[in-house]
Amino acid sequence: MLVKRFGVSLEDDLLKKLDSFAKKNKFPNRSQAIRFLITQTEVEEKWEKNKDVAGVIVIVFDHHKRELTAKSQAIQHNYHDLILSVQHVHLDHCNCLETIAVKGKAQKLQQLADKLISLKGVRHGKLVMSATK
Ligand code: NI
Repeated sequence: MLVKRFGVSLEDDLLKKLDSFAKKNKFPNRSQAIRFLITQTEVEEKWEKNKDVAGVIVIVFDHHKRELTAKSQAIQHNYHDLILSVQHVHLDHCNCLETIAVKGKAQKLQQLADKLISLKGVRHGKLVMSATK
């Protein structure tokens, strides 16, 4: 893709914020930081407007917890049209890590993520939002 250069005028404190943001996120330069921020804003907008988006649901859970696996499976079957792939990793004797790649309307994906993350026995859960286009 064609890359264009342009000059940016920023107040001193805003520039400092940009630089500390770039440093914190290990961006090699300001252009990368600005690129990320624009894309991030676009992604958030798509999720807010319930557009077709993609993402990943990550959950860590104790598989000994009564009926958790069965409940999680039932929920996933109810939303099967949104789920692209599921990867299950046995972290240790008790804990499992599941990464569920999803694609569809933003609100539906959020709904699915909320249902899975709020299951009893889920130690940690997160929905990573991205965009399809
Ligand atoms: Ni497991």
